Amino acid sequence: MYSSFELGIKYFQYFFSASNGKGHGIHSPFVFDFISKILNDENDYSDYAKVESLRKNLLRDKTILAIEDYGAGSASSASNKRSIAAVAKRAVKSKKFAQLLYRIVKNYQPGSIVELGTSLGVTTSYLALANPSSVLISLEGSPEIAGVARENLNDLQIENARIIEGNFDYTLPAVLYQLPTIDFAFVDGNHRRGPTENYFHWLLAKSNTNSIFVFDDIHWSREMEQAWYNVRNDFAVRCSIDLFFMGIIFFRQEFREKQHFTIRW
Ligand SMILES: C[S@@+](CC[C@H](N)C(=O)[O-])C[C@H]1O[C@@H](n2cnc3c(N)ncnc32)[C@H](O)[C@@H]1O
Repeated sequence: MYSSFELGIKYFQYFFSASNGKGHGIHSPFVFDFISKILNDENDYSDYAKVESLRKNLLRDKTILAIEDYGAGSASSASNKRSIAAVAKRAVKSKKFAQLLYRIVKNYQPGSIVELGTSLGVTTSYLALANPSSVLISLEGSPEIAGVARENLNDLQIENARIIEGNFDYTLPAVLYQLPTIDFAFVDGNHRRGPTENYFHWLLAKSNTNSIFVFDDIHWSREMEQAWYNVRNDFAVRCSIDLFFMGIIFFRQEFREKQHFTIRW
């Protein structure tokens, strides 16, 4: 993991080398639309308030959870204790990016969605509400966290999302075996190079030309930057967008030549 100082420099470099977030000078109609209709969609969808009220409650919840830590850097699962509030503060995607994921799903209406890393189910809720007719499977290694996420999905009366407990190394292949195709994937756990590249290749085997895969924390460490570089340069990937905190890839055939965009947002 980069230090805050290194990350700050990386962000500075990104900020000054990226294209502006208005789409000026972007010739691809698909990417231009993505920028104008999704990235810069400023509508205040009613689902936002539902999920942000859940987040607010979680940020106040002092309940202590025993957490199996599968995160980056820990090869085995050491147990430790943390409050729900601390997990909500540290591990959950920010409102800005969670709502972007909501808008991507709302716009493209993927039928099958996989999320790697449920945590407390905040982003899961956004994804599920964005397309209630989708089948959403979210994977989480820590049973107590998964339990809280299930309660949260129940409270929001979300019926199209299922949480599967266990290490991604075992749960992801099992889930992929059951699904004919993956239309949307959000990879947000175990931020190491080898696992991230493996998850990509496993998901790729079930991709279709309209699939969209999103990788979190692509500049978080040297390893993650290498993984992101290899993912976006894979032959099957036709277009990639780097938003610094997240990378998005598309497989659409309309990109005859591979295209990569770094967008300031
Ligand atoms: C960053 S959090 C996910 C946040 C969530 N997507 C959100 O935005 O609300 C990552 C989660 O992935 C889980 N995780 C990390 N590595 C894992 C692995 N190898 N198998 C299963 N779960 C894992 C962690 O327990 C943690 O809850």
